[in-house]
Amino acid sequence: MIALACDHGGLALKAEIKKLLEERGLPYQDFGTESAASCDYALFAYPAACAVASGVCKQGILVCGTGVGMALAANKVKGIRCVVCSDVFTAVLSRQHNNANMLALGERVVGQGLGRLIASMWLDAEFEGGRHTRRIGHIAAIEEGVTPC
Ligand code: RB5
Repeated sequence: MIALACDHGGLALKAEIKKLLEERGLPYQDFGTESAASCDYALFAYPAACAVASGVCKQGILVCGTGVGMALAANKVKGIRCVVCSDVFTAVLSRQHNNANMLALGERVVGQGLGRLIASMWLDAEFEGGRHTRRIGHIAAIEEGVTPC
């Protein structure tokens, strides 16, 4: 299951991502928004991020105007590694090296065509493990407060 969410700035690209998932036969859960009315991105990013963090959803894709607000909100949820991507290289490497479990896209930045391609390649890419597992462990330790600032 893929968690989806957007604000008013990401509505059209989220619809394009839904088409992509449907073409691939990948189920999704849409946490809103459903309307073009102005709304607050964190209120939609948060339940989607919680669904990923709890394991209800395997991964998540968030869309707002820039992707930034959605990613900032999602990354406040423990266990979430959400990356804003505007290019396919970063998207693929964020899976291979960082095991990113959420992708944030900016519809006003990448548009629907590139946004769909980034999402597609991000979904295809696999975490490589190895040394990257140790490095992600350091991020988790920071999150746990193991190492004081
Ligand atoms: C909404 O105008 C815009 O601020 C939002 O979609 C997003 O870009 C925030 O990071």
